[in-house]
Amino acid sequence: MTTNARPLAIVTGASAGIGYELAKLCAENGYDLIIAADEPAINEAAQAFRGLGVEVEAVEADLATLEGNDKLYAAAKGRPVEALLANAGHGLGKGFLDQIFNDVRHVIDTNITGTIYLIQKIGRDMRARGQGRILITGSIAGFMPGTYQAVYNGTKAFIDSFSFAIRAELKDTGVTVTCLMPGATETDFFERADMLDTKVGQQKKDDPADVAKTGFDAMMRGDGDVVSGWQNKLQSAIALITPAGVLAEQHRKMAEPGSGEK
Ligand SMILES: NC(=O)c1ccc[n+]([C@@H]2O[C@H](COP(=O)([O-])OP(=O)(O)OC[C@H]3O[C@@H](n4cnc5c(N)ncnc54)[C@H](OP(=O)(O)O)[C@@H]3O)[C@@H](O)[C@H]2O)c1
Repeated sequence: MTTNARPLAIVTGASAGIGYELAKLCAENGYDLIIAADEPAINEAAQAFRGLGVEVEAVEADLATLEGNDKLYAAAKGRPVEALLANAGHGLGKGFLDQIFNDVRHVIDTNITGTIYLIQKIGRDMRARGQGRILITGSIAGFMPGTYQAVYNGTKAFIDSFSFAIRAELKDTGVTVTCLMPGATETDFFERADMLDTKVGQQKKDDPADVAKTGFDAMMRGDGDVVSGWQNKLQSAIALITPAGVLAEQHRKMAEPGSGEK
């Protein structure tokens, strides 16, 4: 990729859903892109974004691995990254004791290990330059124990917390950290997590383009966090004053296998 006047954004999980819409917004706002996902569909996304008049490089890598994140980092070839949108992540439904541990580990390694590894590498470069924007896709799931989605909600509690902490550490460095906390959003997420037989898997959900716009705008303003949608704002405010045991029972109703209509 040749250097030019346009700033560069890296967007992870950009082949689908919220990440696709985030990458599109970056391109529409004049960012060149390096986009990453695990499957070849990332190349089709890249082709679509090139149509918006920016340079786009697609990286196929499993971002649950450090090697995958090294491959993505190397793709920038030393060009400064103005914006990192660390969005790749996935869920895993069903009861914890019934899950396959390799699948459990992949959730943790994607949502936490790979995410913070990439943020550390790119964040160091941003701090050295005294500028940069980091947007991390957390979730309102981080506010509640995720009965039948226990590990996923735990990863998002980590990410929400981590985001606020490093934002405070980077205060006055010129690097901003913003946490986008969506509620249930209409993407491939629930199918991939094997949750289509659940109430939350079947209910009406937010539009990923709206969610991404909320997050992108918050990142550009340098806000600390943003919950997308007023219903999710209300839900997260109530969660903060509700006992964890009550929240866990409420989550059961949304995520228990078979809780959706047959
Ligand atoms: N949908 C919701 O209700 C919701 C709510 C709150 C937060 N979120 C968060 O929003 C983010 C995006 O999810 P989404 O709803 O847009 O889901 P999605 O449509 O399934 O998109 C997920 C994206 O992440 C990529 N990805 C997942 N694991 C990866 C890995 N190990 N390595 C590389 N790429 C990987 C996927 O690419 P591949 O297909 O190539 O793996 C895809 O591009 C996630 O962090 C999720 O936790 C979602």
